[in-house]
Amino acid sequence: MAVIAIASVKGGVGKTTLAADLAWRFAAQGGHRTLLWDLDPQAGAGFLLGHDEPAVPRAVGMFQREGRPRQMVEPTVHPGLHLLPADASLRNLPIQLARLGPRRLAQITSLLRSDFDRIVLDCPAGYNELTEQVISAADLVIVPLPPSPLSARSLDQLRRELLRIHHRHPPILPVLSMYNSRRPLHREVAKSSAQGWPTIPYSAQMEQSAVRREPLGAFAPGSEASRYLGRLWSGIEAKIGKRHAA
Ligand SMILES: Nc1ncnc2c1ncn2[C@@H]1O[C@H](COP(=O)(O)OP(=O)(O)O)[C@@H](O)[C@H]1O
Ligand SMILES: [Mg+2]
Repeated sequence: MAVIAIASVKGGVGKTTLAADLAWRFAAQGGHRTLLWDLDPQAGAGFLLGHDEPAVPRAVGMFQREGRPRQMVEPTVHPGLHLLPADASLRNLPIQLARLGPRRLAQITSLLRSDFDRIVLDCPAGYNELTEQVISAADLVIVPLPPSPLSARSLDQLRRELLRIHHRHPPILPVLSMYNSRRPLHREVAKSSAQGWPTIPYSAQMEQSAVRREPLGAFAPGSEASRYLGRLWSGIEAKIGKRHAA
């Protein structure tokens, strides 16, 4: 089983759209039993899988010591893909996790180990106790960064912070997100500080994911953006394979 986190200090960089698409690929293309775990009280990942929030928010219950996370897992319309939904009750999750102990999130992923081959964590923006616990639980952390000179800087800051707090941390994979090849600055960043990073293009079809409430790969598999995401997904699978073989 591998845990893949999508995280970034910034919001609106395409984390949730990417998380839904990658989770779909793990299931539909990789044939893995996959769980998309939505950790954001805005519940965007569930929304992209067509899931509606419950009338009574209750997601936070799974984090409590007596919580039953397996019972909160829901099937989706996509074969092999399950959802652990978020709702507004996760609003104070970082504070609650700090009380429940530094390994609470990792304990829950261990509980789900026998049910799933891949767990994708969609994280809210920010850097706090939740981020720290996500990093402790993850085998790989994907960080989407927009094409700006500030991106390489914020990646360095993240790496420094991780080394300060975690003796060892999982590999960090930066991804250049919302890349528009017509913008000179974007091209400049892609050639310099972001050289070699996988890229996700700025794409009207990716935006449509939130309108159709489906992962991009499911409704536009032949699109240019889907080809980029497919390459990113294969690279991630290769990294996971290597890490598990090591
Ligand atoms: N590659 C992309 N190209 C164009 N729009 C995108 C792309 N990725 C995401 N979006 C749109 O940008 C907005 C923010 O995306 P989202 O995935 O919610 O980001 P985050 O989770 O980082 O806040 C949404 O409206 C989404 O549809
Ligand atoms: Mg999001």
